[in-house]
Amino acid sequence: MKRLDELTQHVEVGRYYLVPTVTASWCGDEKVWPVIGPQHNDRHCLDFGYDHYHIDPRFVAEGAGAGFWLRVSAAPIMTSAAINAGGLPKPVWRRRICRRLANPDLAEVGERAARHPNWQCHFDEWTGKQAKRDSRGWICPHRAVSLADHAPVDGVITCPLHLLRINAETGVVLPPIWGAHGNA
Ligand code: FES
Repeated sequence: MKRLDELTQHVEVGRYYLVPTVTASWCGDEKVWPVIGPQHNDRHCLDFGYDHYHIDPRFVAEGAGAGFWLRVSAAPIMTSAAINAGGLPKPVWRRRICRRLANPDLAEVGERAARHPNWQCHFDEWTGKQAKRDSRGWICPHRAVSLADHAPVDGVITCPLHLLRINAETGVVLPPIWGAHGNA
């Protein structure tokens, strides 16, 4: 079974992979969560100073309650004085099935982000930049997250962490399609 960081093509729904996971509390639920990308904070532009991981929507089981997928995207697994106060552990690779290729509410997430000036700052900063490649595929220029295992849609890979849209052929960061920036 392949680790996600060994893939040179995007994941397939219904297949098992070794996925980075962390055991932590998220939205009041202490569990093992699939995560994507490094632990980081987003003080710059996004003004979010708490160290956190993002949940990988491809491998998480759908939770109960309205707005679950918005929370997956907008509410990371964070450490603060009140939540996961002892800090967040390093990821552990665990076997998980791929349940979907992306967050089902990605368009809604993008619309909400585009209405916020912090996100406009983020999109303005990165639009037009060139992503680098490694032997697997494109790397998101924002947090150096490999996008090789992410499926393009209509020739575009949308980074699930902070929504940069990368042209899958050229690696150029495209403008957002949401809100005042785009046509959607
Ligand atoms: S890691 Fe932030 S947009 Fe990709």
